[in-house]
Order: sequence, then C-alpha cells, then structure tokens
Amino acid sequence: MDPVQEIKEKLDIVDGIREYIPVHKAGKNFKALCPFHKEKTPSFVISPERQTWRCFGSCNEGGDLISFVMKYENIEFYEALLSLAQKAGVDIQKSSGGQKQYSILYDIHAAATTFFVEQFQNNAEAKEYLSSRSLHTDTLETFQVGLAPGASDGLFVYLANKGFDAKDIERAGLILKTERGTYVDRFRNRIMFPLSNTIGKIVGFSGRILPSHESDRTGKYVNSPQTPLFNKSKVLFGIDHAKKSIKEQNKALLLEGQMDVLLAHQDGVLWAVGTSGTAVTDDQLDILHGLADDIVLSFDADQAGAEATEKTIDMAHMHDFSVYVCIPKEGKDIAEHVQKHPKTLKAVLEKHTQTAFEYLLEQYEGKLSEKKTVRLFLQKANAIKSPVMRGQWIQKLAQQLRMPEHLLFEESDMLRGTAKKTQVKEEKGEGGIEDRLLKTKRERIAFRIALLALAYPSLQKHFQDISIDIPQRLVPLFDFVLFKKELPDTYKNHKALVENIAAYMDMKASLSYTDGAVESAESEIVFLKKELHKAYLSEQKDVLRKKIQVLEKKGTEKEKLQDLLKEFDEIIKVTDNER
Ligand code: UTP
Ligand code: MN
Repeated sequence: MDPVQEIKEKLDIVDGIREYIPVHKAGKNFKALCPFHKEKTPSFVISPERQTWRCFGSCNEGGDLISFVMKYENIEFYEALLSLAQKAGVDIQKSSGGQKQYSILYDIHAAATTFFVEQFQNNAEAKEYLSSRSLHTDTLETFQVGLAPGASDGLFVYLANKGFDAKDIERAGLILKTERGTYVDRFRNRIMFPLSNTIGKIVGFSGRILPSHESDRTGKYVNSPQTPLFNKSKVLFGIDHAKKSIKEQNKALLLEGQMDVLLAHQDGVLWAVGTSGTAVTDDQLDILHGLADDIVLSFDADQAGAEATEKTIDMAHMHDFSVYVCIPKEGKDIAEHVQKHPKTLKAVLEKHTQTAFEYLLEQYEGKLSEKKTVRLFLQKANAIKSPVMRGQWIQKLAQQLRMPEHLLFEESDMLRGTAKKTQVKEEKGEGGIEDRLLKTKRERIAFRIALLALAYPSLQKHFQDISIDIPQRLVPLFDFVLFKKELPDTYKNHKALVENIAAYMDMKASLSYTDGAVESAESEIVFLKKELHKAYLSEQKDVLRKKIQVLEKKGTEKEKLQDLLKEFDEIIKVTDNER
C-alpha cells in the first residue's frame, strides 16, 4: 500500500493532534484553541469522520494530520511523514516512490556541502577574502561556508561519482541542462552559504560571487531555485544555529544578509537570523513567532533598509510581536559594524535598540504635526494586533502631539473602518465560503439557525415552523446537510461544491457546541426565528413596494393596485406589532 495512505489509516487525526495541543469533544467533532494564532475562544475544529482539521479564525486554513504536523513543527512534507511513519510503525525507508525522492535530495545537499567546504579549504582567494571581512575560521566551520569552483561541472562530476543520478541533482537545483543535453553547475566561482531548515537540514544554498569575478552581468548573490525542499520565502539564514538562543532570549534579531548573520554570531549575538535580502515574508515571521515574542530589526542603514524597516514593523505587529529597531550608527550594516568594532555588538544592541515607535518618531522628526504623518502613525498603530498595545501607541502619539487622546482614537477608528472594508474584500478568496454563499440578511440568519441545528440535532424540529421564511435557494443545501436528503437533479453537477459547503458547516457547527448548553442554543434559535421572519417580511415589503410603483406609473389596473396596497398595509401592521 502507498505509505501515505497506510499512515493515514493507522493514525487517527484526533489522537495525532492531541499530542500537540489539548482538544475537547464538541458533538461529533473536537475543538481546540488554534495553535497557529493567538486566541481565547476556540476556532479550531477536528473532524474524526473526515480526518481533517480547520481553523475558522484568522488563519482560515485546514488540512490533514500530515499538514498539521508540517505546520506545527515547521518541517517539510517528508519529515512530517517520517515522524508520523515512526508512530504508525510504517517502514518508509523500504517503500520506494515519492518519499525516497525526498531523502535523495537531502543526501545530495549534504554531499554538495562537503564538496564546497573541501574546495574552500584549497582556495586562497576565498579564504583571504573572508578573512579580510574579519570572519574567523571557526565561524566559517560552524556555518559550513564553502566554495563553488570555476570549473563548469566540478560539483556535477563529484556528485555523479558518488552515485547520484543527474535527474536528482537537477531536481535539487544544483545543475542545469544545456541545449546540447550536457549538465553544468548552477553555482560557479561563488562563496557558498548553506541554507538550512529549522531542524538543521540543508535545503538550498546562497552563493556570493568571488570578488575577482564580480561584474554587472551576474548577480552578487544567487540562490537555489524553488525545489521540493527549498522555498525561499520560508527560509531564514542561520535559523538552525539561532533557534535555541531565540527561544531562551525570547527575542530574534532580524538582519538582511548572510555576512551580517555570520558576524553577529561571531560577536556572540546568537539570536540573529537573516532574510537573505528578500522582503520579509509572513512565513518567516510565523517561524520566529513560534519561538519568541520580541523582534529586533536591523537592516542596512540606507534608503532601501529604511523602507524595509517601516514595512516590516507593520508586518511584525500583525504577527503580534513587540517590535524594536536597532540601526548601527557606524557602517552600512551590522557586518561593517562588527568588522570595525569587534566584541561590541551585544552592548550596542542593548544601548541603541529603540521601540518601533521611537524609531518612527525619529524618522518623521519635524513632520509629526502634518496630517499625513499623523495618519501614517495611526495606520501603523492599526497594524498592531493587541488592542492594549495599540491603545498605548495612540496614547504615546497623543502626548507627542499634545492632542486629546480621544480625537486620535476616533481618527484611528475611522481609518480602521475603511481599512476593514477593503480587507474583507481581499479575504474573499479561499476561506470566504460564507461571503460567497450568503447574500442577504435573511440568508445569513437562516445559515446561523442551520449551524445551531447541526450542533444540536434535537433542535432540528424548529425547521418545521420556518419553512416559508427560509430562502428557497438554501433549502436543498439544508435538506442535504441536516436531513441527509438527496440533492435535486439540478444540483447534481455541483455535488462536490455542496459537499464542500456541507463539510464546512459540519465543522463550524462544532464551535457552537458546548456540553449541556442546549437550552441557550434553543433560546438563540427562538430569537433567530423571529429575526428570520422579520427579514422575510421586510423583503416582501420591498417586492410589493416595487410592484406598486410600477402599477402607479402605469395608472391602469386600479383594482390590482388596491389589492397590493392592502397587502402592503397588512405587512406593515404585522411588522409594527412585532417590533
Ligand atoms: P547586500 O547587497 O546588502 O549584501 O544584500 P551584503 O550582505 O552587504 O553583501 P556583501 O557584504 O557585499 O557580501 C543583502 C543580502 O541580500 C541578498 C543576499 O542575501 C545579501 O546577503 N542579495 C543581495 C541577493 O539575494 N542578491 C543580490 O544580488 C544582492
Ligand atoms: Mn548589506
């Protein structure tokens, strides 16, 4: 049998997830506090029937046991599979196919690293260059810094002699096929920095051109391409060495370049990691936030660095970090600072680290009273996830501006109102099942009633009383989900979609379930039934009003108009009574 299938059959998702987080039974499903974002009430549901999980909160994501372990442990598919295989007693090494393909890629990266390190040892230019950048031998050894030689196929020949298949080396992104069908190395004349995942397995490389080969035609740095192991946006340079220290210190120092990270570690700042020059990604911040609450940004002291800092402050706030900034006063980056003043980085960080707020105040000095700047500060405040921290930010701003706090809070609320509207639009993609399905107030109320009836089957009886109030569109769906009726023929082509919605409803319903809370659920349904009827009447009123307008314009058919007006009055009477 396919080992993935075998593992899935042997391991139950509820038991699997329970090993990581506490889960509670909720009807036929289970719920928990989502481990992937901070929350106080559960929005994470596990369905034993479907063997899936889903977060209905801000993650709005879901998957199976393997994807849960991948996300929780922050590891790639193959590692998650290995760890689960062990638990399930499935021997994965023996099984050929997809998994083996993975382990070969790891082996190739390990062998390539050995090759590059050997080459480095024999290359005077590379050694001299890094020594001129003040890097010590033991730092280079720790980070397994190497060299890709100039030969067109040095690495390829080495790996081929080790018995690796050209196809696999190509999949690892280390060689390229020429038009003639031969292979050449991707990296040549470059100092090679291995890039590891969090558990320290090498998954790619970043190569800096040797100074003697620098030219406008090739980039200063070249990275591995996207491969089954390597996803640039998920890699943080140095994370394997920094992880422990980041956890202990409860803070991470985020730098731009490989050189910066090497020199920071050499100077004793072990909680430093690098973004590899690319814009910081949400995936990278997710990884760090699993380890620490504080983040210190120290990008290059240039225009690009300042822009990246401002943008990253917002992103880090959205991930609920306390955000700090430390810009080296001397030198263009941390690497230069350490080179000029070795053994001082720790002290500099302690002395010159500012809060993000202080940093921005300095950046906008003299412009603070401009409306544009005030708004910018408030917009930045609105990126802060914690309402308490956001409030403190606004209070500090009020002090700076000598302005009443409440005005700034009002302005902030106003900005947030507009921001929310655009946000809702953007979020309509994958998770927006409800947004796409439910168009009117009546439909939303009916949907909520259906969820409650799903959570508490004994409440399904209430559906008898509201048959006219439920929007016709939703009836086949509710019949299918709640009463297990067949779909009408017109829906047959959309069975997959309906089943998808059914799964969504079934899992979301569990969030409304609490042991013994059937009475309060019932009183909610009783209330919603009234609301549903009101919404129905209000829609009827709109329909009638339009018909009346048409007839009034026409001027003929007086009798019919009378009937409609009477009907309209009836509805008004009923709705007035019910108010
Ligand atoms: P920098 O240009 O600041 O490099 O880019 P650096 O670290 O100061 O480089 P050295 O000191 O001259 O070696 C910062 C980071 O941006 C990425 C690299 O990861 C680099 O460390 N980068 C830079 C690229 O990916 N490609 C490039 O062409 C340049
Ligand atoms: Mn730099």
